[in-house]
Order: sequence, then structure tokens, then C-alpha cells
Amino acid sequence: MQVVLTASSAESARLVAQEILDALASKPDLVLGLATGSTPVPVYARLREAAARGEADFSRVTTFNLDEYIGLPVEHPRSYHSFMREHLFEGLRVAADRTAFPPTAGADLPARCAEFEERIRACGGIDLQLLGLGRNGHIGFNEPGSPLDSRTRTVQLCERTLEDNARFFESGEDQPRRAVTMGIATILDARRILLQAAGPAKAHAVRSAVEGPVTETLPASALRRHADTTFYLDPGAARDLTPSERVPAH
Ligand code: F6R
Repeated sequence: MQVVLTASSAESARLVAQEILDALASKPDLVLGLATGSTPVPVYARLREAAARGEADFSRVTTFNLDEYIGLPVEHPRSYHSFMREHLFEGLRVAADRTAFPPTAGADLPARCAEFEERIRACGGIDLQLLGLGRNGHIGFNEPGSPLDSRTRTVQLCERTLEDNARFFESGEDQPRRAVTMGIATILDARRILLQAAGPAKAHAVRSAVEGPVTETLPASALRRHADTTFYLDPGAARDLTPSERVPAH
């Protein structure tokens, strides 16, 4: 695991976006794993801008999102389908059949989750996976206690995650308590992983992931078992790291 300390979350976004654009330039049919939440929004804005300037062609890219809520129709404004449409897919004109999300409805969810995993394999696996980080150390919606060998499945969201994500919902609006997420083993199958974290609220989870033991109680610590993962951290998120873990951005 490499740790890159940036001057700001905007600089992290610039570096992550540049890495995606470089990967796309060398592999036009790139397979991307994507996250939602606040953290990747500026990265997605940069990708849209590059596409609008004609500097990047996403028409052959395939994407797999990490997670989706159970109980929200895909067209609901708070669904992760809607989030991705608004922040990325419409701007890039990615065809809907090249964007995949974990299944959240239907009779036999476990079988459909297995199909989602199979679809990733059939594309040759994820080249580049973007991750945010929960305050409790979650990646995707793999909450503390998630098995390190977990695959795409239904999960129950922790109270802390529900609190953190309540800001995306109007007051009085029903907030889903369950989701389907790629598992930790699914994430670790990606060839390269970029995790971004910003702000002091993430500092404890960052330090535990980077310096603590690999443990199911801190899902992001599993990334230490991955051969090619970089953490992009702003000063707030890196606040609690011991200085030797820090590598300045170049
Ligand atoms: C979102 C996801 C989550 C978020 C995490 C951080 O698809 O999988 O793990 O990345 O909760 O969220 P933000 O970026 O809103 O702080």
C-alpha cells in the first residue's frame, strides 16, 4: 500500500482523475470500479470536463459500481444509479449497457449477485477501482465485521453509516437500511485500487487502515493485502499517521 499526502482534497481529485485518464489512454476499453458519496464528485467533474474537451473517449469503457441501496427504485433521485447518471454517466455519454450495479431487486438476489460477479470476470476483471472510506473504516458498504473473503451480497448498514448518509436524504424521507455491495474479496480482485479520503473525520479510520492490523473490524485494512493500492489523503485525513507513512504527492 502506498500513501500519498496531498495538499488538499482538490489535489487528490486532480491526481486520481489524471490516473484514470492515463489508464484510459493506454487501455481504451478500461474496466472501472466506481464509488458514490461526496469524495469522488470532483474526480467525476474532471473526467466530464476532459471528455467535453475531447481529450478522453469513454465510449468503450465498462463500469461496475460498488453498491446500491435496497428499496429505492433505480430512478429514485437518491439511488446510486441516479447519482452516477447525474455526476458521471450523462456527461461521458456512457451507454447504459456498459454500466453495471449490484442487483437490488428480484426473486433470487444471491443468484443475481453471483451473476454480477460473473459479469466482472467476463469483462476480464476490474482494472482500476475507486474507493472512498467510511468513518468506521468501511469500503463499499462492507461494514465492520465483513468477512475478508466476502463477495457481492446483501448487507445491513451500520447506524454510523446511516447517520453519515442521512445528509443525502430529505427529512422525513425513508432512508434505506439495507444495500447490496461488492464484497471485500471482490474489491481486492481489482488490479489497481485508488482510495481517497479527506477531512479529519476520516483520520482515525485512515490510521487504523494504514498502521493497524489487518482485521475484519476495520474493512479498509484488508487493502494492505492488495499488491497495488494507493491512498490519496488530504492533510485532515492524514492527520493521525506517523510521519514515516507519508509520501508527498509529485
Ligand atoms: C459509496 C461507498 C462508500 C463511500 C464512503 C465514503 O459508493 O461505497 O464506501 O465511499 O461511505 O463516503 P463519502 O465520500 O461521502 O465520505
